[in-house]
Amino acid sequence: MLEFSRKETGRREVVPVAQVIEEVIQLKRLQRRGREVPIDFVAGPGDLAVHVCRQQLKQVLLTLFNNSEQAIPTSRADGLIRIAVASFRDRVQIFVSDNGSGIPPELQKQVFDPFFTTKAPGEGTGLGLSVAHAIIEAHGGSLWLADSTSRGTTFAIELPVADASLESAPPPALELIPPSALSGRILLVDDEPNILEALTAFLQLSQLEVRTAGNGHAALELLARENFDLVITDIRMPGMDGLDLYENATRLNRSYERRFIFMSGFLLGTSVKTRLAATGLPYMEKPFSLDEFRRMLDRALPEKTAVA
Ligand SMILES: Nc1ncnc2c1ncn2[C@@H]1O[C@H](COP(=O)(O)OP(=O)(O)OP(=O)(O)O)[C@@H](O)[C@H]1O
Ligand SMILES: [Mg+2]
Repeated sequence: MLEFSRKETGRREVVPVAQVIEEVIQLKRLQRRGREVPIDFVAGPGDLAVHVCRQQLKQVLLTLFNNSEQAIPTSRADGLIRIAVASFRDRVQIFVSDNGSGIPPELQKQVFDPFFTTKAPGEGTGLGLSVAHAIIEAHGGSLWLADSTSRGTTFAIELPVADASLESAPPPALELIPPSALSGRILLVDDEPNILEALTAFLQLSQLEVRTAGNGHAALELLARENFDLVITDIRMPGMDGLDLYENATRLNRSYERRFIFMSGFLLGTSVKTRLAATGLPYMEKPFSLDEFRRMLDRALPEKTAVA
């Protein structure tokens, strides 16, 4: 899992494309768990660079590499991921191809939908590509499925080429912060690490500061030590569930009464529904779209502070 820290995230810099690809290939090598799908990388002509948040671009590449790797059956000895970089006019393209199982034509339209997954429960959240898409769009680029047949799949990323002069003269603050930036500190609580990772990346796109907890107890510890504008918690978690967490948090500090949003992926039992209704708080049912998620944040967070 990638590590996110506030300092690194959201800040855009001029990043050589080949370098960031190499970094992610390195990261994949370190992460290997007994499985080695070779990654073949052909650097394009010249030193192409993009103006991006390095951490976020790495997250996108990692999502694509992981998907490719997961599409290649473990039984296959000739599995290969191939990366190519090209440029056209003032745009850079990064192609990530694999010779995996491919995506059936009838499913190709859905791969960017949040929570769309063909993986077993617990193995995929279906948030990888939707968050990757949001990240690339936020950088003025596009991410699309370029090709997929039973012989393999290619995804393409396109980003504006960075102006080399940006390195010495940082762009004005307005460019650093998307016009839709929100402000606030968020505590995200879910027992599924992939959900935490993907939603964190999405929240950080809006310049929000995010802390995460993998269970109710860890969340409560953070709530006792730090102050948050909003707590977004899964309801179903082993041990202390999201509603227990809410009760404990409000006992700790009454002001949390209005600062919770609940999420859940399963049909809820009547008793849980009753407890949820009693809080009078917003509830997001998975699958939700990232736009819905974003609108929920808009309503829940304090007024944005004007960008100086
Ligand atoms: N390279 C690929 N080859 C074949 N299928 C793919 C590929 N990339 C994505 N898919 C399909 O798109 C779906 C959605 O991908 P996405 O990354 O959004 O979620 P996921 O991989 O299922 O879960 P997670 O986000 O937790 O990794 C996958 O479940 C898979 O069916
Ligand atoms: Mg994925």
